[in-house]
Amino acid sequence: MCGIVGAVAQRNVVPILLQGLQRLEYRGYDSAGLVVVNNNRLECIRSNGRVAELATRSAETSGHIGIAHTRWATHGVPSERNAHPHLSGERIAVVHNGIIENYEELRILLAAEGYVFKSDTDSEVIAHLIHSHYARGNSLLDATQTALAELVGAYAIGVVAADNPDQLICARKGSPLLLGVGVKEHFIASDMSALLQVTQKVVYLEEGDVAEVGLLDYRIFDASGKVVERPVHTSELNNESVELGEYRHYMQKEIHEQPQALANTLEAVCNSQSLIPGIFGAEAASTFAQVDSILILACGTSNHAGLVARFWLEEIAGIPCSVEIASEYRYRVSVPNPKTLVVTISQSGETADTLAALNHAKACGHLHTLAICNVPESAIIRQSKLRMLTRAGPEIGVASTKAFTTQLAALFLLTLVLAKQRGKLSAEQEQKHLHELRHLPSAAQAVLKLEPSIAQMAEHFVDKRHALFLGRGLHYPIALEGALKLKEISYIHAEAYPAGELKHGPLALVDKDMPVIAVAPNDTLLEKLKSNLQEVRARGGELYVVADAGTRFQSSEGVHLMQMPEHAGYLSPILHVIPLQLLAYYVALQKGTDVDKPRNLAKSVTVE
Ligand code: G6P
Repeated sequence: MCGIVGAVAQRNVVPILLQGLQRLEYRGYDSAGLVVVNNNRLECIRSNGRVAELATRSAETSGHIGIAHTRWATHGVPSERNAHPHLSGERIAVVHNGIIENYEELRILLAAEGYVFKSDTDSEVIAHLIHSHYARGNSLLDATQTALAELVGAYAIGVVAADNPDQLICARKGSPLLLGVGVKEHFIASDMSALLQVTQKVVYLEEGDVAEVGLLDYRIFDASGKVVERPVHTSELNNESVELGEYRHYMQKEIHEQPQALANTLEAVCNSQSLIPGIFGAEAASTFAQVDSILILACGTSNHAGLVARFWLEEIAGIPCSVEIASEYRYRVSVPNPKTLVVTISQSGETADTLAALNHAKACGHLHTLAICNVPESAIIRQSKLRMLTRAGPEIGVASTKAFTTQLAALFLLTLVLAKQRGKLSAEQEQKHLHELRHLPSAAQAVLKLEPSIAQMAEHFVDKRHALFLGRGLHYPIALEGALKLKEISYIHAEAYPAGELKHGPLALVDKDMPVIAVAPNDTLLEKLKSNLQEVRARGGELYVVADAGTRFQSSEGVHLMQMPEHAGYLSPILHVIPLQLLAYYVALQKGTDVDKPRNLAKSVTVE
């Protein structure tokens, strides 16, 4: 939520800042701004709307040091006035990602000192606070450190001062920030994708770190103020992985990347003859031996992955599993069981509610934690005892696609490893599952061939205002995910129901204007689902059925088929979601919405 980029270089940094912001736009895109230091003056440009607008306005600007920001509004409407950077006088400029909880008290104190607030944001207090310490003769570093000690809340910040043209100060606590190391130039960014055009060398700042960043060197201070060395990593990302290439949108690209993303995530297992707990970390075998239940905590799409996994974990591994929305769990008084394995699922690894839920679980006495996450070095990964990285590659479209299917693949592996360790998996079953997993990427590839027919089907949805998604059992969470995709990017109100619940209320909504999308795999609940669908047809409801081999559904008046090539057994949810992703994509495309950046949303939700 909000993206930060900063640079100190011998060359003009404005193009670097703008390109970085473009890459970070997935984090928020309601307004953007940048500031450079020029001849002991701050040159600041802000604009409401997208980074492209800022780029047009910045054409004449240049400088060797600067910070920039793309915003997702929390305090104060999206507007030029509330866009970052925030300035204090003509001297200090700050960009901020996070939320300052005590900003109202600080605002009163700073107003009493004579500071005049120009925005409605919580962030502006940071600029004035640093200014007030800087004005007393402290160095920019000291002024920033002193100010940070007075803040309550979460932040990643970048700071520059008009009379300090060689240095930028940055800090993080609760929001991500990293340092990019170039040749006689240094950068800061919310994530590495913003810097790939200038460097692949990265230093991940830790919680509470403050850094002083110059042209030739940088110094990092830990939360206690002590100078520390942090390792320099070489990022595995490259420019190509974050570029659109032949696709029209990132979402479309990411839907198509699923076969490869699944192959990458499953690589270690598929190349081996048997399943080993080590894929979840060195201590996995001993931890798994101690656990008697699973608690999954996640938000959004990641929560849907957890809901699918519950079926697998209970049915295949015979282990009780509950799934909770992270933002609910963190505030609920629950009964902790120290033998529970707490599994957090997160694409970004920085979702504030998931992170807080993880910390809440630990504070309640949960010792065993496992993160399934797509971003190495993210907060959730670092704060968990065990981890498995999904290897989906950067996911940029706000609506999650390949992160979801790779999370499911990782959760299926978890199920198998636990089942094996608990004596619930015979050698023969293990080989059968491994065989099916090896086949999964090509099965996903085959499903993508439905794209042209789904694109046509999408036309039926363009003027609809509501849609109902139905699924049963393992596929009810897929119905939830299909509904989420459609509402996120096409703004059509969509709801998902377990098909058996239809007659307990939602059937009242069904008429010819309510498309009903059913996830219909060839499983034990198929006949029950067919009866539910008859109930829809009998009320004139138009049906769109994602059916797979052997279900004997046929297209007819009012029944439109998305025929899957095969039935994938337990892995079926991973395949059935793909047509629903494509459907949402094409409906949004035809409605002309901003597919990758839907209104009001952001990809990484680093605020509560
Ligand atoms: C946001 C995104 C969703 C995502 C959710 C959880 O709402 O738009 O796509 O599923 O956050 O994010 P996480 O990074 O924790 O998976």
